Amino acid sequence: MGFRVFELERWQSDYEHAVDYNVADSSVRGARLGDVLTPEEQERFLAMELSYPMVNGTERLRDSIAGLYRNGATGLNVLVTVGGAEANQLACQTLLEPGDRVAVIEPGYRQVHGVAEALGCSVLPLALDRDRGWRPRLDQLARDAASGLKLIYLVNPNNPTGSVLTREERHEIVSIAAKAGAWILADEVYRGAERHTDHETPSFWGEYDRVVAVNSLSKAYGLPGLRLGWMVAPADLVGPLWRRHEYAVISAAAPSMRLAELALAEPMRSRLIGRQRELTRTGWTLMEHWLARHADLVSAAAAEATSMAFVRYQLPQSSVEVADRIRKEASVLVGPGEFLGADHHLRITHGLGADYVGEALRRIAEVLGRMAAQ
Ligand SMILES: Cc1ncc(COP(=O)(O)O)c(C=O)c1O
Repeated sequence: MGFRVFELERWQSDYEHAVDYNVADSSVRGARLGDVLTPEEQERFLAMELSYPMVNGTERLRDSIAGLYRNGATGLNVLVTVGGAEANQLACQTLLEPGDRVAVIEPGYRQVHGVAEALGCSVLPLALDRDRGWRPRLDQLARDAASGLKLIYLVNPNNPTGSVLTREERHEIVSIAAKAGAWILADEVYRGAERHTDHETPSFWGEYDRVVAVNSLSKAYGLPGLRLGWMVAPADLVGPLWRRHEYAVISAAAPSMRLAELALAEPMRSRLIGRQRELTRTGWTLMEHWLARHADLVSAAAAEATSMAFVRYQLPQSSVEVADRIRKEASVLVGPGEFLGADHHLRITHGLGADYVGEALRRIAEVLGRMAAQ
């Protein structure tokens, strides 16, 4: 219990700018400022006064975010945050108390895992079963819920496995949550990053009354540097979330909010998502060939979404040891699976452009080959 280092983010903070190739990230290659700020918009942007903006997000931005959800979301359901990261943090601070039981998807992004433990909650894994193509063990979730659950944290589409919950799984999770009176914290930052289809993964928002849906511009839109996210919540929960947002950051940055308004307006929104899908899809083709060429060393289930592959390797060493060898010997940063809840895997992002990823993969294979021969 108590404060726990967020190991994955620590790993990235320490090394991501100290290697030749960083494929430990979870976004596609970032879009450029000039992709969003068209020549017509530049003058207005430069004339912007840098006063404090609306603390909960500009009205225009909140309205356009609400428009991305079905079932009657309005700007009053939206709080604009500093990335999905702040949104997850606020949801935990607002909804959880010491002693609460929290189910957390695993493997997964372990922010809520660490925050919930630091708040004195018990964390129960909602396991994704690797042998069944990373399907969730919902029978276990139902058993855990029978003894009480305050919150279920889902990452859908998932980081790192790229799996997407089916309609039936979503309904079953809602019915388990409803029986227990549990909140669903639906981290949907990879909505729009589907690889097989252009249809966006449906949001949990509107499927049940105790849902907080989180999203950001970091993944599907390829704009992580804006640090712009949001949460959609029942109107009477938005106030308590907002009160904590004031303590943490006051507000998101005014220029980022303006750029977010532009990014979410059509046709820009479709253009950014299209750019991300193209990077994701060409990256996966490259990754698939690499996996086939090195089948003696590595394997991965084809992710339904995201620009990441969760690669299992055939070596006895832990994922931190393997990732450290790759970092030191090849100057390539990969994400150790241990930091995402599954050892003997490496998270490798392929949506960063063919030349960049091709060279990173070549170097990774060289190190793995060497380790296997030792
Ligand atoms: C599932 C998930 N949620 C939230 C975040 C936080 O991202 P951001 O704050 O850039 O939206 C990440 C980043 O990797 C993530 O993978």
